[in-house]
Amino acid sequence: MQSFKTIAIAGGTGTLGYYVSEAFLSDGSYKVKILRKKPETVNEKANLLVSKGAEIVYVDYNQKDDLVNALKGTDVLVSILSGFDTYNIQSKMLTVAKEVDVKRFIPTEFGGEYKLGDHICTDTKAKFREDLKKSGLEYTFIYNGAFQEFLGWAGFDVKKKEATFFVDENKIISTTSLSDIAKYTVESLKVPEARNGAIRVAGAALTLKEYLQKFEEATGSKWKVIEDKEVRYRYLNKIDPVPSDADDFKVMALNHTSFEKLDNDKFSFTPRPVTETINELISQAQ
Ligand SMILES: NC(=O)c1ccc[n+]([C@@H]2O[C@H](COP(=O)([O-])OP(=O)(O)OC[C@H]3O[C@@H](n4cnc5c(N)ncnc54)[C@H](OP(=O)(O)O)[C@@H]3O)[C@@H](O)[C@H]2O)c1
Repeated sequence: MQSFKTIAIAGGTGTLGYYVSEAFLSDGSYKVKILRKKPETVNEKANLLVSKGAEIVYVDYNQKDDLVNALKGTDVLVSILSGFDTYNIQSKMLTVAKEVDVKRFIPTEFGGEYKLGDHICTDTKAKFREDLKKSGLEYTFIYNGAFQEFLGWAGFDVKKKEATFFVDENKIISTTSLSDIAKYTVESLKVPEARNGAIRVAGAALTLKEYLQKFEEATGSKWKVIEDKEVRYRYLNKIDPVPSDADDFKVMALNHTSFEKLDNDKFSFTPRPVTETINELISQAQ
């Protein structure tokens, strides 16, 4: 098993990135560099990570010299970037990573296992995954289903005590908390199957109906349920009310969050119970 010492995290100040950066720092065995895009900007999370021992390296992702400087001496490059330019940025990082002998690349996946053609928004990930596999660099793909903290996005509105289901209520949705995704990412470096492989994990794999039950128990009330299973059809055929791009993406994403077999048992910890996240979402809404 390779021993990794220096971790570079692109997008390490983001929603998920912050948790992953923090988890690598608290492990205590790694030197952590956070890559941030130029120009330098004030960022509370970046300051916090520096106070915990991280080094911030500003890069213009289009400048090769910047990337060489940022990545030399790196053992593992973790990309937790988001946005439409991700394919372009990750491709540039991959070229340089090979040149400066980065040992492993964990690209920005962290959701469902989307295939090329599933959706325009996720094709950038699927395309890069194939490039990375062919590159000769070691890789790990981490699939964790939906962020548990984003159950609101999946249709659970705590304030209104209302659930909107775009897919069947019996559809299993895998969700993982941000802190557990971070732990899985750190520990993946010690899991043999993660070398040139995919890790599929979930903190909870429940049907929408079962999540609803947990929300109802936690709020002590019956919720209103709205079902709309025609979103994709109306979107594709421009039928009123025409759903938004975001709602169309949601249907596709919810249909790709569950995995046939999970790799949770390859890790040393048990993910936190989903009820903890649900209780946090309820207190945040008050
Ligand atoms: N499974 C799910 O439910 C779920 C939900 C949301 C996201 N995701 C996935 O998780 C990954 C991370 O998403 P996130 O929401 O945590 O990311 P995020 O917070 O939106 O962004 C991550 C960081 O990337 C950098 N960044 C953003 N736009 C950039 C650009 N155009 N060029 C260069 N750097 C840029 C920023 O860091 P600096 O400003 O410090 O450079 C930002 O803090 C993505 O793959 C996303 O698709 C999954």
